[in-house]
Parts: sequence; structure tokens; C-alpha cells
Amino acid sequence: MIIYKSKREIAKMRESGRIVAEILERAKEAIKPGITTLELDVIAKQVLDANKAESAFLGYSMPSSKSKYPGHICVSINEEVVHGIPDNREIREGDLVSVDVGVLKNQFYGDAARTFKVGEIDPPRLNLFNTTARALELAINIAKAGNELEDIARVIQTTVEDQGFSVVRDLVGHGIGRNLHEEPQVPNFTGSGLNCPLREGMVIAIEPMVNMGTFRVKTASNGWTIVTSDGKPSAHFENTIAITGNGSEILTIL
Ligand code: MF3
Ligand code: CO
Repeated sequence: MIIYKSKREIAKMRESGRIVAEILERAKEAIKPGITTLELDVIAKQVLDANKAESAFLGYSMPSSKSKYPGHICVSINEEVVHGIPDNREIREGDLVSVDVGVLKNQFYGDAARTFKVGEIDPPRLNLFNTTARALELAINIAKAGNELEDIARVIQTTVEDQGFSVVRDLVGHGIGRNLHEEPQVPNFTGSGLNCPLREGMVIAIEPMVNMGTFRVKTASNGWTIVTSDGKPSAHFENTIAITGNGSEILTIL
């Protein structure tokens, strides 16, 4: 069942989204060669505390996973697609680092991710970065009442495959509100059978996960982190957006 949000509820989600964006901004400033992913997690915790908000991810359990997620944020480097657990690993020059942030504030969730370039990155990775960002931007531009989820999937998939890259199939975007994950599922590829019309009051997290090589992924030995099957790099951008009376509004911005 899709839960539609009132203007009042969307106003609350704007605040959750603003905190998400603040954490991403602080992470962007902090990411430099030598910083560990755990240090980024500590920064996220400081911003959460300052805003009297909670991590949406800490303690989260996936249906597929036995353990509770141990970090406040996810930090996924290069071949890690999503759900990288903060630890003592150092970020290095040339890395693509995706930071995924979920926040709970006033009973509502916000969820967004950005990939960051560390120093000079090679041209194929730069194209992967730019293409994934563009795929999300184009998807948001057509996310409006009257269009369908399938339109979002199509623009993401064609943008990505035109560059010779692939979209991950095993993970999808999602509705969001009083729960981190609600209906509908928001796939980044067409023909999933999950199509549905977009209507005013829907709030969804659109999140293309784009691989340089195969779309196939596997779960790492920590039981959480999703990595590419071929070890090639991946990029991820995500925003929480509300379908409004005249288009859409990105909630996960400052
Ligand atoms: N941002 C992810 C999503 O959209 C959630 C991360 S899962 C967690 O589904 F385990 F880290 F919480
Ligand atoms: Co999400």
C-alpha cells in the first residue's frame, strides 16, 4: 500500500531531508586522502546529535541479514556498491566514495547518497561519476504526476547504458515516510513489473546504483556490504523527492 503524504507531513520530511543534506555536506568537506570511513561516521553522529536526530541505519536489520547494521551512515568505496560499514579503512587519492545517509527526525525519515571524487580520478571513473549524477537528475526532472515509475526507470537505464555502464538490478529505490522503506519499490531498470503511476503526495527515494562493468553484485563476507561481482567500480546517487502539484521537490537539500 502506498502511503500518500499531506503538505504538513511533507514539511516535516523537509526537515529530515535538510539534516541528511547537512551530513552529506560535512562529509564532502572532510573527505581527503588519509581519512578513515569511521571518522566520517563520527562526523555524521555529531551532526545528528546537534540536530536532535537519529540515524535511520544504525541498528537496522535487513530481511536478508542476521545482524543489525552497526554504522550511522554507509560509506562505500570503489567496487563497493552500497552498505559499506565504517571502519579503519583509509580513503585514498583516486577513490570514488559513496556516502549514504538516512535520518529520523519528528517521526519522519530522509534518505540520500552522493558519490565523492577523491583528488584526481581516471577518465572512466569520472564518466561513471558524471553519468550516475546525470541519471538521477534526469529522473527527478520527469518525476511528476501523470508520469509513471517506468518513465523513471527508462531514463536512468538509457542514460547509463548509452555510456556502456550497467544498472544494478538487485537493489531498488523506495517509498519513504514514517518508515525508511515503504511501497512503491523504485527500480532503475525497465520491465520489472513494478510499474505504477506517480501521484501528488507520493514521496520516493530514487537511487541509481551504476556499475562500470557487470550489473551483477554479491554480498561481502561482513554480511552487509554489496560489491560488484567483477570488482570494477560503482557509483550511487540518491535523493528523497516529493511529488507535488506542479512537478517534484527534492527534500534532501540544504
Ligand atoms: N540507504 C539505504 C536504502 O535506501 C539504506 C541502507 S541500509 C542500512 O535502502 F542497513 F544501512 F541501514
Ligand atoms: Co534509500
